Amino acid sequence: MIELEVSLGERSYLIHIGSGGIADAKLWRRHIRGRQVLVLSNATVAPLYLDTLLDGLHGLAHASVILEDGEQFKTFDNIARILDTLARLGANRDATLIALGGGVIGDMGGFAAACWMRGIAFVQMPTTLLAMVDSSVGGKTGVNLAAGKNLVGAFHQPSAVVIDTATLATLPRREFVSGLAEVIKIGAIGDAAFFGFLENHAEAILGREPGVLEQAIAVSCRHKAGVVARDEREQGERALLNFGHTFAHALETETGYGHLLHGEAVAIGMLLAARLSASLGRAAQADAERLQALLERMGLPTRLPNGMDPQRLLQHMRLDKKSVSGELRLILWRGIGQAEIVSGIDETAILDQLKNTAAAA
Ligand code: NAD
Ligand code: GLY
Repeated sequence: MIELEVSLGERSYLIHIGSGGIADAKLWRRHIRGRQVLVLSNATVAPLYLDTLLDGLHGLAHASVILEDGEQFKTFDNIARILDTLARLGANRDATLIALGGGVIGDMGGFAAACWMRGIAFVQMPTTLLAMVDSSVGGKTGVNLAAGKNLVGAFHQPSAVVIDTATLATLPRREFVSGLAEVIKIGAIGDAAFFGFLENHAEAILGREPGVLEQAIAVSCRHKAGVVARDEREQGERALLNFGHTFAHALETETGYGHLLHGEAVAIGMLLAARLSASLGRAAQADAERLQALLERMGLPTRLPNGMDPQRLLQHMRLDKKSVSGELRLILWRGIGQAEIVSGIDETAILDQLKNTAAAA
């Protein structure tokens, strides 16, 4: 097992990475606070891994909430259902919630844990690649509103993250590849050597070879843990993790839930950011081409879906949560491994990139 720490003073926590973590109750029982445990999962993940997890809970009062599978169930109604179950369990402040699933379950479990009695312990057990390298680390939790994704939420750090890499064996290929976009992002924004590692091991990673995969997950988590430790509330450096995301959110909004997976939208968004950086003279075009080649080798999309209207995408980008005082602020790069925050970009340059990428589709 690989062990990393997210250093946040008395709220510091460990990330355990390795095969068989869920079955290893000795590993995670020490992170359980109190005598009551609520497990949150969904109808796809629970039949695969819930029994193994419940075996490790002997001696503790516990209950499970199994939600329907999908982003559309990341709602307040389901948060109420989780909180009602905590009440029925007789949970007090000294209880623990375990989130077993992908980012939807992790975000909702974390938010319910932040709300119950103003905050109880929770353990993340991510089962998608995206959740392992991104959403389970860093304490961003939340739910969707009809008005938009993740509009309501709280910062609430987990007590531990248990990454059982064996769960990736059952993850559908498209979901796995989508998660790879966030792994590539880590290399793109802050670690050129890691980017090279991904180029050299693309086939092994796609083949889900355990050793290489664990290494890639560990490097990604170590990078994110460092960023979160230095800038928990996204006052500065943490924003770099949103490389490609303003474009991606615009694409997700325009295509609607369920057409593009998050990582797929991020892949297209990162390439747009890289090309925009080159067109503004901030980075070499050759770096954008290297990024494109790696994304394509991993099976990720690099073009806008057919029928996208660049003007509408730009409108969505103006409304992104990351905009500050109405001014569009984007994460661009100086080249592989060097992301930067840039404000006041000429909108015609953005529009040109959107048009070029759409025209190529
Ligand atoms: P997801 O949770 O919907 O999981 C994707 C699919 O894989 C689902 O159908 C799920 O049931 C299935 N699945 C999960 N684990 C599986 C396994 N081991 N075997 C078989 N099937 C499995 O999607 P996701 O990509 O993990 O997460 C997306 C969510 O994460 C979004 O709601 C997004 O807003 C959020 N997110 C949060 C953060 C953060 O910092 N908190 C960061 C990025 C994304
Ligand atoms: N997913 C971006 C962040 O955690 O800040």
